[in-house]
Amino acid sequence: MDFSIKTNDAKTSIASLKAGCIAVGIYENKKLSPQAQALDKSGEITAALKSGDISGKPGSTLLLRKVAGVAAERVLLIGLGTDGELSDKVMSMAALCVARVLSTLGGNDALLALPFDGIAKQTPERDLAWAIRNSILVLRENSYRSDTLKSKKETTLSGIKKIAFLVATAQAAVAKEAMAQGLALANGIDLTKELGNLPGNVCTPTYLANTAKKLAKEFKLTVEVLDRKQLEALKMGSFLSVARGGGEAPKFIIIKHLGGKAKDAPTVLVGKGITFDTGGISLKGGSGMDEMKYDMCGAGSVLGTMRAIAELKLKLNVIGVIPATENMPSGTATKPGDIVTSMSGLTIEVLNTDAEGRLVLCDALTYVERFKPAAVVDIATLTGACVTSLGHHNSGLFTRHDSAHDALANELLSAGKATGDTAWRMPIEDSYQEQLKSNFADMANIGGPAGGSITAACFLERYTKKYTWAHLDIAGTAWKSGAAKGATGRPVALLTTFLINRAAAAK
Ligand code: BES
Ligand code: MN
Ligand code: ZN
Repeated sequence: MDFSIKTNDAKTSIASLKAGCIAVGIYENKKLSPQAQALDKSGEITAALKSGDISGKPGSTLLLRKVAGVAAERVLLIGLGTDGELSDKVMSMAALCVARVLSTLGGNDALLALPFDGIAKQTPERDLAWAIRNSILVLRENSYRSDTLKSKKETTLSGIKKIAFLVATAQAAVAKEAMAQGLALANGIDLTKELGNLPGNVCTPTYLANTAKKLAKEFKLTVEVLDRKQLEALKMGSFLSVARGGGEAPKFIIIKHLGGKAKDAPTVLVGKGITFDTGGISLKGGSGMDEMKYDMCGAGSVLGTMRAIAELKLKLNVIGVIPATENMPSGTATKPGDIVTSMSGLTIEVLNTDAEGRLVLCDALTYVERFKPAAVVDIATLTGACVTSLGHHNSGLFTRHDSAHDALANELLSAGKATGDTAWRMPIEDSYQEQLKSNFADMANIGGPAGGSITAACFLERYTKKYTWAHLDIAGTAWKSGAAKGATGRPVALLTTFLINRAAAAK
């Protein structure tokens, strides 16, 4: 898909613009948007509305051909609901309608002449820039296919692939920047989806490391991959205890985008990279276990976000860190009751080998102390309990509760709201910490069935005392199950927007 911005000022009527298709909005009660009015010199659009062929409700569309007085070959009417009540949902639905219709049309190119700045009246932050970013994300989401490993590609989208947003000349600069952001985000999201959807026998720790190396080459990032020997030298006993059962070599990936000033402390992203989670000796049940190929979606979202900010040449120092391994049972695997020593020196009684995410993350969280980070955000498909708490709508957000952490939490929450990639804040309190008590080691790796996502966050919290830190549990949001099974690309939009906002604040 090829996007562009086309400008038009009041002097030229949009009726004179040549295109394969021009899309304009109409409202319920047979009302035309200003753009639709401009195409209605012949009265054909009004007549179509009168005939009842299109209701104007969100989701309704009507295609007219060869409208008199309109240079474009086709006019696509898009229902926008009640006039004056444009919402982000309606705009997303409009973009989806455009995507679906264009994918079935002949013609070369489409002009989108929708009221992109119309929502701003209700929701100020939903401005023209938001609408363009959002439309690109919806169009790209609609055209994504996970057919990399199919010998016959799913019918690749035919139809119109050249799409221009029509905006006033004065808005061109804002629109172009929004388009660049939308494209970078979509590219990052696609990478994250692709990595998530690849199976555990393809997307191994080595594959993740090679993906990071490829990104580094393409976007001039620096990358370093540590192997088992180097991890042993670093005394990452907790991470390595998870890697004992599997045949795939563990990898510890460090990828840096240093777009800020040399002296500026970096923002660090740490992504859980379990390329397949069987549970280990505490083996999971068989049904649906294939979905544990998605247990590297935290890592995938770090790579997708690095790709997005690198493409944008973001003026910020960002470091991505990924502990990657599979979690397998075998004769050499860690056993329940085994006690391991983490890089921090703290000992951990592994009561359940299926609580492996925290075991790999704790060593990564200790490792990143060396960067003296401005903030650390870890992203992990950490607990089934988080899915029970928040379902599939919100990622779980955990931080300590002081003013520095409240500020970081609010940055992440508002970045989520801005993109519809939302998170919900959960507590971290000493009363939950007590559930991690072990009779034999400094802590246990599980805290019992109650408040499982919170005790998991409490475990991580113990390794993050030296910096400002937040944890995103994406177990419910990173992929979809059932007929529409597939990675969502979340929370790349949240993370990238969070970093874009940080770069803007640092200016
Ligand atoms: N990767 C899983 C969490 C998970 C489970 C995410 C289901 C999405 C759907 C994680 O490693 C895990 O197995 N967690 C255990 C923790 C428990 C043993 C304390 C869980 O959630 O059951
Ligand atoms: Mn597990
Ligand atoms: Zn896991």
